[in-house]
Parts: sequence; structure tokens; C-alpha cells
Amino acid sequence: MDKDEPNEESIDHGRRRFLVAATTVIGGVGVVGAAVPFVASWLPSAKAQAAAAPVEVDVSRLEPGAKLTVEWRGKPVWIIHRSKAALAELKKSGTEHLRDPNSEVAQQPAYASNPLRSLNPNYLILIGICTHLGCVPIYRPDIGGVEPGWPGGFFCPCHGSKFDLAGRVYKGVPAPINLEVPPYKFISDSVVIIGEDAETA
Ligand code: FES
Repeated sequence: MDKDEPNEESIDHGRRRFLVAATTVIGGVGVVGAAVPFVASWLPSAKAQAAAAPVEVDVSRLEPGAKLTVEWRGKPVWIIHRSKAALAELKKSGTEHLRDPNSEVAQQPAYASNPLRSLNPNYLILIGICTHLGCVPIYRPDIGGVEPGWPGGFFCPCHGSKFDLAGRVYKGVPAPINLEVPPYKFISDSVVIIGEDAETA
């Protein structure tokens, strides 16, 4: 959990570094080990299966405003508990400054094709990789923090791209499209599975 993490999350151009929370990898990794050798030779390795497996995350202790980063398929996935104030600010900021406010570009599953780009308005779930050249943007929930009128969002330190708290890209920045929403589903009020949804299960 990393409420104030710009320093921790600043980009290392050679290798992306990000905080990884404790998670549970789901899936029958052990099954491969039981296969006969010639079959195992063309099956994906246990390591590859584990890397691609969905990840279960308990968000019960994620406070409003806080952000959690987990790893899925080698990528940082952010889970942000949007506070009521943040949601109000997002609504108030309008859409004039956004390039694709209605998520016309397919950067999200159908259930996240809405203004808040989420299943549950309280939780924003995004792949934390800038759609320009792949840096990891910094979470900047501080109102007015990046520029006057800043409603909170994400700022990419590499070339200055900006995204709002729904991961929607600003106009006039290098990033061409919104941040990507991975497939996910909630299996309870506080447990989410990243990498699996009703369509992929
Ligand atoms: S990689 Fe983010 S602005 Fe270039």
C-alpha cells in the first residue's frame, strides 16, 4: 500500500521497478509436474503458467485515496481506492481536456467502458504503464498538485503525459491513448481477481 509513493515509483529507464504487494497466484501450476516428460516438453512451463495466472488481491485494508500495486503477467497493475472527494473532483473537472473521454479506443473490457472506466466506481484498476513509451507514471492524487486545476491523476515523468483518475489521457501530451484496464472481477466486496473476468473464466 503506497499512498504517497512518487519517490518510490519514479522510473528507472533501464528497468521498470514497481512495488509488488503480497498476492495469491491462482491456478493449477502443479498439474504440469505430473505430466509425462514428452508431454511436458510442449506444455508451458510451470513458471510461465504462474506468470500468466490470475492474481487474487484483498483490498479490504486499502484506504480511500490509497494505491496498491500488484504484478500480473510481468506488468504493474494498480488498484486505487478512489475517495468520495476524488470522484467528485473527477466529475467536476469535465472532459474538455481529455483526448478520449468516452473510451472509444479499446483499452478496457466492455464492463469498464464507462466514464469512470471501472466495474465498481470506488476502485480504479489499471495497468500502470504509460501508453507513450512504457514508463511507469506517478500517482498524483493531490488536487492542484501537477498544475493549476489538476483534479488528481497520473503524471508520467518521462515525457510529461497526464491521465486523470479514470486513466484517461489528456490532450496535447505524447501518450496517444488511455491507460489500459486489465480484465478483472470482484468475487466479494473486498476481493478482486486480476486477469480473469466473467468472459475469460
Ligand atoms: S513514456 Fe510516458 S510520456 Fe513518454
